[in-house]
Amino acid sequence: MSTEQDAREAQLVERVLASFDGTPDPRLRELMRALAGHLHAFVRETRLTEAEWQAAIEFLTATGHITDRRRQEFVLLSDVLGVSMQTITVNNEAYADATEATVFGPFFVEGSPLIPPGGDIANGAPGEPCWVSGAVHDTGGNPVPGARIEVWEADDEGFYDVQYSDERVAARGHLVAGADGDYRFWAITPTPYPIPHDGPVGRLLAATGRSPMRASHLHFMVRAPGFRTLVTHIFVAGDELLTSDSVFGVRDSLVKRFEPQAAGTTTPDGREVAGPWSRVRFDIVLAPDQ
Ligand code: BEZ
Ligand code: FE
Repeated sequence: MSTEQDAREAQLVERVLASFDGTPDPRLRELMRALAGHLHAFVRETRLTEAEWQAAIEFLTATGHITDRRRQEFVLLSDVLGVSMQTITVNNEAYADATEATVFGPFFVEGSPLIPPGGDIANGAPGEPCWVSGAVHDTGGNPVPGARIEVWEADDEGFYDVQYSDERVAARGHLVAGADGDYRFWAITPTPYPIPHDGPVGRLLAATGRSPMRASHLHFMVRAPGFRTLVTHIFVAGDELLTSDSVFGVRDSLVKRFEPQAAGTTTPDGREVAGPWSRVRFDIVLAPDQ
């Protein structure tokens, strides 16, 4: 590239960055300068063509058009680019042995049913029964009684209740940790499912040879006064999708052994289960707020 060309490009970047100098909010100024700087670096480094920029604008337009109250394609785009996971990583700094956070996903619903200790969140969702138990502690090893534990998951058809057109509430609920921070409930053994891939993000994944599949997981959100809210999942050890999760959500510390139990094996609470079932233990450690 000629010196003259390089100077023209660099001068434009300087002018764009300087245009934010008068931003009253210093944080907005910092964010806009960094964003513009990185975007210009991308355009210059890749020698982006005008046709390619037009294609990118059409892609973002389609992403907006498919987005509505029930479908958030921009979040999905952030997820498959690993930006959601990176933002979570930056904002949930490692603290002692606190449980790691991962992506929230679009399928949490506020106001889920209260499940008593040992109750079943499935509420008719198809899948193999799974006994989940554990306890919530702080990083000093003290129990956190009363912690609110939200859990939600896809059924074994790969769908969350909210993806069906009826009004069912299934495979979700919340529990309250007992005096020792303990909790237990029946769920269904997680199975893999694809993120919604019938829109622009799905086309992007296809064009780049990537799979929309998520590794099998069970979502948790744990809240207690004085503690950082934990949004996480547990993943199934041995799942072949652990290394290719489409939204980069897997953390080694969140991979748990879901122990298969043969049909007829006595259950922890004496419940009669017709076929095979599984069990998993997940002990949760909450970081303090701030
Ligand atoms: C989920 O786990 O529910 C999810 C996460 C990110 C994108 C789509 C779905
Ligand atoms: Fe999920």
